[in-house]
Amino acid sequence: MNVKKAIFPVGGLGTRFLPATKSMPKEMLPIVDKPLIQYAVEEAANAGIEQFIFVTSRGKSAIENHFDHSFELENNLLAKGKRQTLASAQEMLKIPGSYAYVRQQEPAGLGHAIWCARHLIQNESFAVILADDLIFGQSTTKEMIKSYTSGNMVAIMEVDKQKVSSYGIVKVDKSDKDLMQINQMVEKPSVENAPSNLAIIGRYILDHKVFDVLEKQERGASQEIQLTDAISSQLDRVPCLGYRIKNERFDCGSKLGFLQANISFALNRKDLNSDLSNWLKTIV
Ligand code: G1P
Repeated sequence: MNVKKAIFPVGGLGTRFLPATKSMPKEMLPIVDKPLIQYAVEEAANAGIEQFIFVTSRGKSAIENHFDHSFELENNLLAKGKRQTLASAQEMLKIPGSYAYVRQQEPAGLGHAIWCARHLIQNESFAVILADDLIFGQSTTKEMIKSYTSGNMVAIMEVDKQKVSSYGIVKVDKSDKDLMQINQMVEKPSVENAPSNLAIIGRYILDHKVFDVLEKQERGASQEIQLTDAISSQLDRVPCLGYRIKNERFDCGSKLGFLQANISFALNRKDLNSDLSNWLKTIV
């Protein structure tokens, strides 16, 4: 299936990372030497996405600048002959018009953020990537698009039963497959009310019809307009599949997940692996 556009909701306040995120978008926090949002955009590009739509908010201009030229920096590196460093400063430049930005004027939830980008999506299916959910390998969106034919699809994984209230939770017919038919979805249920421990992870392939329901979607959990509620309300007309993610996922919206991602990604790098693992052995 041809999926050429991806929406990146980046309007959140990042309160869990204060004071670091007081004047810096949380999506710019680095995992080793790359901001979280860059991993998300690279994953999308790897999946064949050609148009990258960011739903931003006030104070997020660092994201726009990150995906643009930085003339002073580039000239300086060029003059010094630092070609490799220059290449890393330029690697996210894409053909003009590939990046688009719309503002979400208030943090009214993920569903509201997606709805803010409605004019940039035509009669087509599109991807949604939450940069907080960092998944090793940068192939999840590509794999999802490969198995996508129509309707909606969300990435899912099992989470600790005690953590279900932080996620959208789904109920499926048979949970032993890689692609599962979802028949119930609840956003942030209590442990007692959760239909399972299968959680939605921040990767979606959505039918544009989701905008019709988002238009009228009432506020749900956390008093926000929830994407889960919109997908759920269409289940009888627009089927939703759950795609079981294959690689390790890090919740970079939490301090622990962010630290684990930094260590794991650094251990995965040739230039850091040996020194870091030697040091880790001395402190653990
Ligand atoms: C959002 C979604 C939730 C999903 C989660 C994955 O929640 O609303 O359904 O499980 O992302 O990270 P948030 O983390 O924005 O509260």
